[in-house]
This record gives sequence, C-alpha cells and structure tokens, in this order.
Amino acid sequence: MTIPFIDLAAQRDRLDGGIERAVERVIRSGAFIDGPEVDLLEEELSRRSGGGHVVACSSGTDALVMSLLALGVGPGDAVFVPSFTFVGTAEAVVLIGATPVFVDVRSDTFNLSVESFVEVARTGVPSGLRPVGVIAVDLFGQPAEYSRLRSEAAEMGVWVMADAAQSFGASADDRPVGSLAEVTTTSFYPAKPLGCYGDGGAIVVSDAELASRLRSLRSHGAGGHRYEHTRIGLNGRLDTIQAAVLLEKLKIFDEELVARRQVASRYDEALRDVVTVPTVLNGLSSTWAQYTIRVDRRDDVAAALGERGIPTAIHYPVPIHRQPAYSSFATESHLGVSEVVSSTVLSLPMHPYLTSVVQDRIIDGVCSAVGG
Ligand SMILES: Cc1ncc(COP(=O)(O)O)c(C=O)c1O
Repeated sequence: MTIPFIDLAAQRDRLDGGIERAVERVIRSGAFIDGPEVDLLEEELSRRSGGGHVVACSSGTDALVMSLLALGVGPGDAVFVPSFTFVGTAEAVVLIGATPVFVDVRSDTFNLSVESFVEVARTGVPSGLRPVGVIAVDLFGQPAEYSRLRSEAAEMGVWVMADAAQSFGASADDRPVGSLAEVTTTSFYPAKPLGCYGDGGAIVVSDAELASRLRSLRSHGAGGHRYEHTRIGLNGRLDTIQAAVLLEKLKIFDEELVARRQVASRYDEALRDVVTVPTVLNGLSSTWAQYTIRVDRRDDVAAALGERGIPTAIHYPVPIHRQPAYSSFATESHLGVSEVVSSTVLSLPMHPYLTSVVQDRIIDGVCSAVGG
C-alpha cells in the first residue's frame, strides 16, 4: 500500500464534518466575497502572529506581489532573494519590474546565508540598480535568521521581508512568525501546514498605513468608495469559503504542529546516523512543512523508496538562477551551496497523522535504500 505524502483526508475526518458545515454556511449566506469569515480570520491570524495588521489575500504569490507594490518597488530596484527556494519568491520581484539578485543559502538549514547576503550586497549588485530590500524565505518551516539579517539590512538601508509561505505558526526566540520582519507573507496552498481548499494567502505588517495600502491594492486600488481607484491594484482577495475552511482548521492547528514536531523528532533520532537530517537552529521552532534530508545517489534512494510504496518529493531540484526564465538575472555571485543542496535534497512523507507504524516503515525504507 502506498503511503500518502500528506494526509488531508485524515485531517478532514478528524474535523468530523466541521469544514463541510462551515462551507455550507457561507453558501447559504451568499457572502462569497468579503464575508464576515474573512474579518474573523484576519483577527485570528493577527492574534497568532504578534498582533500585526493582517491582510488576507488570494495566494502566497499575490501576497509577495502586493507587498512589493505597497513598498513602492519597481523598475531599477534590486531585491535580494535566495536562489534555493520555490520560484514564487523571485517571480514576484520580476513581475513588478524589479530585478532579483540571488543570494546563497546555508547548507544546514537551507535558509538564506547572512554572510552571502552581505557579500552579494557588496560585490554582486549589477551596476545601475538600487538595492531596496531583501526577501528571506523560511524554507521547510524554519524561520530565517531575522535578527542578524535585520541588523545587516538596517546598515545598508534596505527593508527585510519574510516569505513565510511554509512557516506560519513557527517562532524565533518565542516571537511568532509575522513579527520577525517588517513585512511577512504566507500561503494557504492546500499542502501547507495551514492550508485551505484552494489558493489563499496573507500579509502581516506592523505599519497601519502599509496595511491600508495593501487593503486598497487587493481590491483594484480602491479609494474611499468601491468605484474610486486611487492606485493601480489587482483582484487579490481571499474567498470567504477559503476563510471559513481556515477558521475550522485553526481549531486544531496547534495540536497539529505538536504532532508534526513529534514526527520530526522521531525521524531525527532514527535517521541522524544514516543520512544528513535537517538542522533547526537554537531558539527557532519549525512548522515542519517538509522533512527534508540530504543523501548521495538521491535518485536511486527515491526510486528504492518508491518501490516500497514510500513517496518522496524534491524541493527543489533546480536553483532559481539556473531556471531558463531566470538565467538572465544570474550574476557572478557564488551560489555553490544552492547548487549542491538542490542535487541532494529529498523530502520524506510529513504530516500530523503519520502513525509510528507507518513512520517505522519509512525509516526502514530509508535505511535499506541508503545501505543498499
Ligand atoms: C517559499 C514559497 N514562496 C511562495 C509560495 C507561493 O505561494 P502560493 O502557491 O500560495 O502562491 C510558496 C508556495 O507555494 C512557497 O513555498
């Protein structure tokens, strides 16, 4: 029997019809856009992210696009992004007409290397461009090193944005994701630790004026009333049905995070002598959006696991500076770690409903695939 990589059916069973009832309430209300569930969700997310202003929106990618627009980023501006990430981080920068400047990552956490950022900012910005900000990504659920990054960024006079698509619910030194950078974006893509039943996302900011610009941007640049347009915006709203789904899932989210942590600890213990297991830095907590090991002969290991009905995934096989659509933005900067990790990472099944019996099957499979 094939093991599911993530198990949304088990989650739905646990909620025992709660999601279906919540969706039906929205259908009966007819408030499909800007319904009361969207406001309730924003309040709940604000409570969980240190009290910032939350603007729910249509996806994690749109959250990045709108945040860059709200900060006034555009042509001639350079934005630092890690090369080892999901494409959406760099894509948003290019979409609004700015230029991504790629920075390397750490091999142990896969997150942006502050040393590489400092080096690239000093020597790797193409001439004629003005550096304005850096987007760090909390890859696989662990926050980047925001306190170090923010002090370097402050010296350079650039802002810090957190792409927390995978890390909503994590923390650094007991401060929640959402309060670690000037702007935080997240995604509710169904496979995320907090996922809806379609596309969705949110932005968290501490600045009220920025929040009001974001609210206008997500609704076609609306001004004082619906058909007054004070800026060029987009349709970036979160559907009420998706907000209702998320409110139901938030009822069990904390317990799910604990369960994910338990799964990760068990994997750590059983696999640390066999493969390179992920590192979580002191003071940080992860949502364990992915449990990603590093192995030699990655394709052979993945094939051997596949034969035993154990699915794996590669997040991400090609660093962004090597992607055809982005190669024109590649510079001379050294991105060697991004290249190495993209050829050795392998994500194992990870979700809160993995039983210890199934986990043992996965652990045995990895041990035998690596040994064989
Ligand atoms: C790191 C990262 N950034 C951005 C995104 C984009 O989010 P979405 O798929 O909601 O647009 C994702 C998720 O897919 C992601 O993992």
